[in-house]
Amino acid sequence: MKPLIAPSILSADFANLAENIEIINRSEADWIHADIMDGVFVPNISFGFPVLKSIVKLSKKPLDVHLMIVNPEKFIPEVKALGASIMNVHYEACTHLHRALQRIREVGIQPAITINPATPVCLLKDIIQDVYMVLVMSVNPGFGGQKFIEHSIEKVKELRNLIESTNSKALIEVDGGINVETGARLMAAGANVLVVGSTIFKAENPEKVIRDLKNL
Ligand code: DX5
Ligand code: ZN
Repeated sequence: MKPLIAPSILSADFANLAENIEIINRSEADWIHADIMDGVFVPNISFGFPVLKSIVKLSKKPLDVHLMIVNPEKFIPEVKALGASIMNVHYEACTHLHRALQRIREVGIQPAITINPATPVCLLKDIIQDVYMVLVMSVNPGFGGQKFIEHSIEKVKELRNLIESTNSKALIEVDGGINVETGARLMAAGANVLVVGSTIFKAENPEKVIRDLKNL
């Protein structure tokens, strides 16, 4: 199976967002990945809903929202209003995860759980049936351009086993430090979706990088 590619606009040139979104529109990318931060759950702040609203107007790809914020369930109506297809909430940021995922599904968005590098896959055992996707962070969330954490490969293998042994249909997405080399190893380990920021937007030819990733 070819990977689904979700370019992360966190690494785009914010002064030329329209141009960068046009590149994604023209490319073989499957989704557009948007990272929202609050300066509390992660030590950084990116952009919020007003900026995302403008991005959505220009984008032709389904929106994959990654909320790096505390109590993400508070923002389900805002994510719905954006017309997002997928809403990722962090396992570590959500006390009543089961309820949050149900609410996300109720409003017609695909619910996804994100796990930090230090959060073990085994904690997903009782919730894996209720999610559209699990997002494995392969860097500590908050910044683009960080080094890929090798242990993520083992986590993807472990998650693939959990999904198969429970007959879950969850997709596996991975985010952070992904390039053609780490992407190929993640796919071999059982990943389905690759979130890629700086490798795409810092490249001379972002469309070609997306094509190369698509053909892993
Ligand atoms: C990091 C974000 C990522 C980020 C990935 O907290 O969740 O989506 O943009 O960027 P790269 O691909 O540069 O590691
Ligand atoms: Zn992300």
